[in-house]
Amino acid sequence: MARASTRLPPFLLLLAATCAAVANAQLSENYYGSSCPAALLTIRTTVATAVLLDRRMGASLLRLYFHDCFVQGCDASVLLDDTPSFTGEKGAGPNAGSLRGFEVIDRIKLLLELICPGTVSCADILAVAAHDAVVHLGGPSWTVLLGRRDATTASASLANSDLPGPNSNLNDLLAAFSKKGLSSTDMVALSGGHTIGRAQCQNYRNRIYADTDIDGTFAASLRGDCPQGGGNDGNLAPLDASSPDYFDNSYFSGLLSHRGLLHSDQALYDGGSTDGLVRSYASNNDQFGSDFAAAMVKLGNLGVLTGAYGEIRVNCRAVN
Ligand code: HEM
Repeated sequence: MARASTRLPPFLLLLAATCAAVANAQLSENYYGSSCPAALLTIRTTVATAVLLDRRMGASLLRLYFHDCFVQGCDASVLLDDTPSFTGEKGAGPNAGSLRGFEVIDRIKLLLELICPGTVSCADILAVAAHDAVVHLGGPSWTVLLGRRDATTASASLANSDLPGPNSNLNDLLAAFSKKGLSSTDMVALSGGHTIGRAQCQNYRNRIYADTDIDGTFAASLRGDCPQGGGNDGNLAPLDASSPDYFDNSYFSGLLSHRGLLHSDQALYDGGSTDGLVRSYASNNDQFGSDFAAAMVKLGNLGVLTGAYGEIRVNCRAVN
């Protein structure tokens, strides 16, 4: 009797083999050790310079990586520019007018193409830059596994559907992370990325006018720059008011005092299943740091392309 698998149509067998290859793909720590030994130092110094000039850039690089990995996996799809015949992810709702840091990645890529042409992927540059930015702002370190290759496609529709929005409730957030195989602990720890960076008025307007679980003084202090009737949509406020450019656990202390800037931030501490974890992180910076680091490693493994899949882009903004 023929085995069941031989009855599958050839395209399904190919699909299964492709999925297995991608799932088994191995990243490694020392991937560029001989092919581009200066890669890590080049990325680190360029990130350090960018953050020295603009401390918010550290936050922007971390977010860029999250928005890459959550859409098709960590494959640099987020970096592709639109062309007349191609629509990428930059114009998608969660990204348009909001993602920053593309020029820093361009600068790194330019240097790496001079030092070791066609070797270091844009996807790996994003992974290392996010790590270096966090460390530079006082956050934890982790082993960044390398060997990702760059996508030749992008998906605006997945960017719109898979990236959680600022008005999400706890169930939405848990579902969005669970869809990527990430646990509620991963979700809460990774949300601690909001210990650095800024959000625009249009993303916290509802929170400061409509939410009832917000500290009154905090809400009032934000209203002047973010009028209820509209306007000033791009005005910025820190996601963690007490130390916006320092990577620590004070984001979680803010949630305990109902000072989360986004509705989705406060949703982590609003009487639901994640309250206990928020309390733990607020009282234990080391626990937050190690859970954040572990979750960043998991995030970095999402949907990676290795081996014969994808390519090493010459220019991060365009497929070769
Ligand atoms: C849990 C679901 C999440 C939601 C709903 C969310 C939503 C947002 C929104 C709306 C902004 C402000 C964008 C703007 O106004 O321009 C923002 C900023 C930011 N997000 Fe998230 N985010 C989430 C998770 C994460 C994760 C997992 C990370 C990283 C690990 C992250 C890192 C950041 C950073 C660093 C900023 C500030 C960026 C800057 O200042 O340029 N976020 N996020």
